[in-house]
Amino acid sequence: MKSIKYLLAGCLLSAAFVQHAEAQQVQGFVHQQSKATDYVWPTDQQVLDKLDKWQDQKFGVLFHWGLYSVPGIVESWSICSEDVDWIRRREDLSYEDYKKWYFGLKDELNPTDFDPTQWADVMQDAGIKYMIFTTKHHDGFCMYDSKYTDFSIANGAFRNDPRKDVARHVFDAFRQKGFMIGCYFSKPDWHCPWYWHEHFATPNRRENYKRDRHPDWWKNYQTFTQNQLEELTSNYGSFDILWLDGGWVTGDDVNLDGILAKARQRHPGLISVDRSIRGKNENYQTPERGIPETQLDYPWESCITLSHDWGWVPNAPYKPAEKVISTLAEIVAKGGCYLLGVGPTPQGRIEQPVVERLHKVGQWLKANGEAIYNTRITPVYHDGKTWFTANKNGKTLYAIYTIEEGEQLPATITWKGNLPKGKMTLLQNGKRVSYKTNGDEVTVSVPAGLRTESLAFRFQAQ
Ligand code: GLC
Repeated sequence: MKSIKYLLAGCLLSAAFVQHAEAQQVQGFVHQQSKATDYVWPTDQQVLDKLDKWQDQKFGVLFHWGLYSVPGIVESWSICSEDVDWIRRREDLSYEDYKKWYFGLKDELNPTDFDPTQWADVMQDAGIKYMIFTTKHHDGFCMYDSKYTDFSIANGAFRNDPRKDVARHVFDAFRQKGFMIGCYFSKPDWHCPWYWHEHFATPNRRENYKRDRHPDWWKNYQTFTQNQLEELTSNYGSFDILWLDGGWVTGDDVNLDGILAKARQRHPGLISVDRSIRGKNENYQTPERGIPETQLDYPWESCITLSHDWGWVPNAPYKPAEKVISTLAEIVAKGGCYLLGVGPTPQGRIEQPVVERLHKVGQWLKANGEAIYNTRITPVYHDGKTWFTANKNGKTLYAIYTIEEGEQLPATITWKGNLPKGKMTLLQNGKRVSYKTNGDEVTVSVPAGLRTESLAFRFQAQ
């Protein structure tokens, strides 16, 4: 009962920050967005330039791939002993035995079909422009060949494969296609003995001892984490984004200032995303599994799963392409980027249902991408389900009328505000459409014979 109460309180709290958040069958909200007033604009011009470039991309993918992909369960969290509905684990094992079983998945993760080029092809076909990959999630299992631990894919069942340093191959495949590249790294590490020390039980997500009573343990954890961040930012080619998860450990805890100072010499303008840690190292904010209620004029990104889970799970209930498109339109009109969560299979591929949905999204973007990419926000940004974006000089406006799966196109579309001047073009077919105005209201006639999908219109602002 108590846990339901907490869950309810948590959900209500979350609702204050995000609108239409999806049902939380699997995971609760782990990270809230920092508050608007907490955003600190970077002072480094190269970071500002990169942020600007990143804001043009609009659509990214966040891959979660790790031990949890083998049984197809919630990423990492099942080894965290917090009593909430969305953290589930096998009931036939005690907690300690469960952790052993989970860590033992290291000897089962053997992605013999690993094909990062297929991942990149699928994402390119979807119109996705940037990528973020989990080099290490909270469970501490490294998806790269770390010098500082054996707990990695390079030392597990995949160790004899020439591609055992998988992160390197993933990043390279996407770089080759011109994507912006992001490195996901969890600061908390539930495998590191200096974070979860074996001397104590592990009652929650935090380190399981008092830092001031065991400063040496904490120091070891800090050194370990800094070393790993250093090796990732030194040996894995150029990154655009360092996406640091697990905000219950702060960047200051692991000397993020120092890491960034060095890293930015190798990766000029590197965007630092110290999630939910307000201040100068959170170069953009990351509302999770939902969309901010209103337009925001500083950099942000909504990370939202394509199914309910971040990682691959069997028979996942994927969202339809229509939902992805309407979400993208809403996020972009509010000034954000959309980071779509996709989990590669334990064998190392993007599965067919994802390929099909994303292909449909990509087809839509081929015709309508002009209303999305490289756009900026405009003051009147929506009326009902019509979302507005503007080109960078603010003179050309786009209206995106969004529909959901199974919905038909109406005969006319009406919105208030954003009155057009001169001709209006439908991006789906590049043809002119007719409209009428009445006061501050515009009514567009929808021609017959169109593909049933969200419609984007281009016009000049009055
Ligand atoms: C949360 C979760 C984590 C997930 C991330 C993705 O921070 O802790 O499991 O990777 O959200 O946004």
